[in-house]
Amino acid sequence: MKILAICGSLQARSANRALIDLAVRLAPPGVEVVPFASLGDLPHFNPDLDGPACPEPVLRFRRAVADSDALLIVSPEYGHSLPGVLKNAIDWSIGSGEMEEKLIAITASTPIAVRGRLGLRALRDTLSAVKARLIGGEPVVRGAHEEADLQALLRTLAERAARPPAGTAAAPPDVHIAPLGPPEQAAYNDFLLAGIAAHPDTLRIARADVEQAPFSTAETPWAATLAARTAAGTWIGVVTVEREQGRQKRHHIAWIYRMYVAANHAGSGVGRALLRAAMERARTMSGVGKVNLTVAAHNRRAISLYMSEGFREFAREEDAFRDPAPRAELSMALNLEQ
Ligand SMILES: CC(C)(COP(=O)(O)OP(=O)(O)OC[C@H]1O[C@@H](n2cnc3c(N)ncnc32)[C@H](O)[C@@H]1OP(=O)(O)O)[C@@H](O)C(=O)NCCC(=O)NCCS
Ligand SMILES: Cc1cc2nc3c(=O)[nH]c(=O)nc-3n(C[C@H](O)[C@H](O)[C@H](O)COP(=O)(O)O)c2cc1C
Repeated sequence: MKILAICGSLQARSANRALIDLAVRLAPPGVEVVPFASLGDLPHFNPDLDGPACPEPVLRFRRAVADSDALLIVSPEYGHSLPGVLKNAIDWSIGSGEMEEKLIAITASTPIAVRGRLGLRALRDTLSAVKARLIGGEPVVRGAHEEADLQALLRTLAERAARPPAGTAAAPPDVHIAPLGPPEQAAYNDFLLAGIAAHPDTLRIARADVEQAPFSTAETPWAATLAARTAAGTWIGVVTVEREQGRQKRHHIAWIYRMYVAANHAGSGVGRALLRAAMERARTMSGVGKVNLTVAAHNRRAISLYMSEGFREFAREEDAFRDPAPRAELSMALNLEQ
């Protein structure tokens, strides 16, 4: 498997290039990380230069992208955005389509966690123009955890590249997704408690919250809790979708809550199928124009799922909940009207 690594910095002593060099050394078995060395050779993008006489450096770049199984883009932030040289390269590939739905991991080498995020956000926005299947999006902070964080990103990238493209994995055939009703309230809350015990760092609800005020499973025109179960009735996953109830002026917003798939069924398409079912339900709620959710900032698996279904980050809260370690949370939204 070949991963093409693109650095957004041209300077000789680039920290981002050093991270790519590290990725070359840390590549998992069977994976080759190949740096693309000549981003600076690309001329300024000009549609007039495209066509039969397209400059050779552009053709080389397009071929390298097309010949790779996935991309790793490591880039600094310049002026609260992505560097011009990187934007230029992406612009060259938009019309020709090599990056269309490409699997791409993005990160930045930074001295502290809060740096580089605006650059990554801008990069994400640009890559969404080609419907890239994005993973990562957090900077790799230089220091003690650098190698482990980079290794985790490379592993995720390689695993994803080895699987069929996002969206092709349907829920397993014997899994049924349906809204719950009041009789299933106790079973639902028990299932959720198992999730809370297994994932205290990604589900922000505490056991005591559920015990004190169990969640309702009543279906209304504005709320539904969906469960994925086997034909034999075994609980596999759940998700809740609920339109805002209070302020009239926020009735166009629905929220996704309490998404959880049992660990022994994770990674087989159930989460995606549940999310899609919840989105379908949101579309039936009168006046709903967008769907919001929050997700722990380190929850790469969930963020990948949400991003691949079109959700985009619009805010980040540091220390949003404690388990007891302080956890940052991203707010994400998907506009249903565009
Ligand atoms: C996050 C969660 C809901 C995902 O459900 P799932 O059934 O495992 O996900 P799916 O099999 O449908 O996979 C959907 C996408 O998730 C991402 N994903 C799945 N497994 C992954 C992994 N090991 N690494 C990185 N991303 C992964 C991918 O984007 C995948 O798409 P693809 O398979 O088409 O490439 C589930 O893992 C879970 O319940 N985790 C614990 C609770 C939690 O974190 N809930 C979210 C709260 S916001
Ligand atoms: C022109 C310029 C603009 C920059 N703008 C930002 C910025 O907006 N935000 C930021 O966090 N860092 C900014 N930086 C710092 C770079 O992101 C940082 O130096 C980075 O390490 C450079 O990457 P490199 O070492 O891979 O070349 C800027 C640096 C330069 C030279």
